[in-house]
Amino acid sequence: MLLNIVAVVVSYLIGAVSFSIVIAKWVKGIDIRTQGSGNAGATNTLRVLGKGPAAAVLLLDIAKGIIAVYLGHALGDNDWMPVLCGLAAIAGHNWPVWFKFKGGKGIATMIGVVATLSFLPALYAGVIAILLIVLTRYVSLGSLVFAALMPISIALFNYSPPLLCGTLVLAVFAFVRHRSNIVKLLQGTENKLGAKKGA
Ligand code: G3P
Repeated sequence: MLLNIVAVVVSYLIGAVSFSIVIAKWVKGIDIRTQGSGNAGATNTLRVLGKGPAAAVLLLDIAKGIIAVYLGHALGDNDWMPVLCGLAAIAGHNWPVWFKFKGGKGIATMIGVVATLSFLPALYAGVIAILLIVLTRYVSLGSLVFAALMPISIALFNYSPPLLCGTLVLAVFAFVRHRSNIVKLLQGTENKLGAKKGA
């Protein structure tokens, strides 16, 4: 039991290392949360700092999700623990204790979590999401569709109660964190990939 709690807490603390905040501070001395869309994530890092820093943020944020799931496997004593640790890492990314609880939207870390938990369903959802981003240039739309497709993909291709419950919670996290993007998408004012400025 104690090891289960340790795994979840450590996963949260790892997730709470927000690499966009760290890298933006390091590269340019700025708080990424005051620039572009104000989001602490890879998309906004691309907008504000360019491709290199954005790629680093994307990979490191994905890695947090992978590490958390492995921690759940290593320390947990049941099938729910890898999922719970993944959720904890995403919660850490979204509401980071190290950065006054103002973090990102959790999609990169979610990619790491779901690809590690269940690779093929994540790949199916990911391919559709990437196609959508390429066609529309709305990263937020692709993120939301990816999050919504994950529980469906799990139900169809790799059903298990922990995975289904976990991906349903992840979808709720994603929609809650993308509230402002959803409003902008509906109003037709959402930032497009490649556009310089965003609010
Ligand atoms: O994963 C975040 C992305 O979906 C939206 O980012 O900066 O355009 O709000 P942003």
